[in-house]
Amino acid sequence: MKERIQSDQIFQRALKVIPGGIYGHVSPVTGLPRHFPHFCERAKGCRFEDVDGNEWIDFMCGFGAILHGYNHPEIEEAVSLQREKGMVFNQPSPLMVDLAETLVERIDFADWAVFAKNGSDLTTWAIRVARESTGRPLVIKAKGAYHGVDSWCDPGHGGRIPDDRASILEFDWNDLEALTDLISKNKDKVAALILTPYHHPAFAPSELPADGFWQEIESLCARYGIQLVLDDVRCGGRLHAGGSHRHFDFTPDLAVYSKALGNGYAISACVGNGSLRKPSMEVFLTGSCWNDALAMTAALKSLELSARDDMVSGVLEKGSRLCDGLERVSKDRGQSLRMTGPTSMPYPWFDGDDSLFEIQRFCQLCADEGIYFHPHHNWFLSNAHDTESIDQAIAVADKALEQMSAEDES
Ligand SMILES: Cc1ncc(COP(=O)(O)O)c(C=O)c1O
Repeated sequence: MKERIQSDQIFQRALKVIPGGIYGHVSPVTGLPRHFPHFCERAKGCRFEDVDGNEWIDFMCGFGAILHGYNHPEIEEAVSLQREKGMVFNQPSPLMVDLAETLVERIDFADWAVFAKNGSDLTTWAIRVARESTGRPLVIKAKGAYHGVDSWCDPGHGGRIPDDRASILEFDWNDLEALTDLISKNKDKVAALILTPYHHPAFAPSELPADGFWQEIESLCARYGIQLVLDDVRCGGRLHAGGSHRHFDFTPDLAVYSKALGNGYAISACVGNGSLRKPSMEVFLTGSCWNDALAMTAALKSLELSARDDMVSGVLEKGSRLCDGLERVSKDRGQSLRMTGPTSMPYPWFDGDDSLFEIQRFCQLCADEGIYFHPHHNWFLSNAHDTESIDQAIAVADKALEQMSAEDES
């Protein structure tokens, strides 16, 4: 069992000055079970140390933000050099143009790019660009899909008024009949269809697009004049170097990236096709530190490393080693653990575990041995996960599954 004295003490202090101590999806009250540490001290590669000095092998990668490994030497060196020049100025540094050029070169349909700090900034902005270009009000999204913290899409209820969702329609992922029905009933009113590359909800297994799903989506959008917005915030960088639409072979009108873009430095990007250049200029966009040259340096270096090291194949292969290994030991132990979704960002699921008790028990037992497997969110692989760390995690999982089988029998 891991020591958690400092972690608990700091959390007690936090409760006095921060509502709930820690908020959002890592809040111990609503999201992350208590056997995980509340606070981290440092991280390197695929490991981090919590405030009690416990070392963890991490399979969350800062919830996806870390693609090359924590504290990557080449990225940190590039950032240090830029830091000598400065970080936030009145005007952007030329790095912004370098970064836009890199994205436009790498993402096949992209004609332009803009930048902000978080995914939410730009998923919300992108649907406004779609509204501006179509002159229509409605937005369609998949039920249970997360697109950020703004009131049109956040998973909470607080502080919301009915108007916030009055222009948002939903359909079940892969239910093309329901989607077609929704679109035809709201003909000439739908501005945007916003979707993730595949369905990756929390608390449920991931669902890949059914055969022909994306092709039908493209044809519906073309037929009804709807802008297709790809929310690639979570998957970007882990499925295809040219954007996740290439992995599934379709073309959106706009795409939003964040998480892995800056390897932990806060930056998001939205790219769009040429027809949206003019409407994009009509939707106001700025922010306190929007032109942060350090984050742009990190993103440029991160994109350079991704191309040089064939990052996507690397994380998919590492993920396959992990997923195959976990499914193998699960089968050997008579358990039903199944890894869903792409291997570079798999979601673990025990068959029939609707109460979620089994996945919680599994992740707790692994956490006791220093393996950070999240029970309710997809995991993330980085290029820093080596054979040793993956095999160590599989060995710990094997013991956890053995214990679960013993508990089932008793
Ligand atoms: C698919 C998706 N879209 C949008 C967002 C929002 O991004 P951010 O948290 O950077 O605002 C997230 C964040 O997890 C996400 O996973």
